[in-house]
Amino acid sequence: MKEKTKVLFICLGNICRSPAAQGALENLVKQKNLNHSFEIDSCGTAGYHDGDLPDPRTRKAAEKRGIHLTHKSRKLTIKDLKYFDYLLVMDENNFRDVISLTNDAKVKEKIYLFGQFRSDQGDPIVPDPYYKNETAFEKVQDLVEDCSLGFLNFLGV
Ligand code: 4NP
Repeated sequence: MKEKTKVLFICLGNICRSPAAQGALENLVKQKNLNHSFEIDSCGTAGYHDGDLPDPRTRKAAEKRGIHLTHKSRKLTIKDLKYFDYLLVMDENNFRDVISLTNDAKVKEKIYLFGQFRSDQGDPIVPDPYYKNETAFEKVQDLVEDCSLGFLNFLGV
């Protein structure tokens, strides 16, 4: 039996962008009846919000699209780097922080800017909405849904 594809979304605090992306991809694979083929998780490069549910604004934007977020924030670990097949980061700071944790070329190859999978091939950064308004959270939700579709296309599923 084929092993699951293991996907880890990574942002700074793991309460806005990466749990939104996790929820969007989980929702999509469920719709495609591919749940059994994926393991999807998220984390932050910082542990500021360890154990917290996603930001209420993140949850609200997801709920509007029928996605209920229950993930609890956790910090990225060194084990994650080996364990997951795809390390999908949201911005250049995340990219720099993650790549700085390894000298292993195989691990480095697994790090992608999630925004590179967007359908319009625009800016590959998923911007941090934390200090912004609800509209910014809505935009993040739309963007991570679009990128999730692009990511599944990239995987050929
Ligand atoms: P995230 O957003 O990285 O998308 O979860 C942030 C959440 C919290 C903080 C910064 C960004 N913070 O400074 O607490």
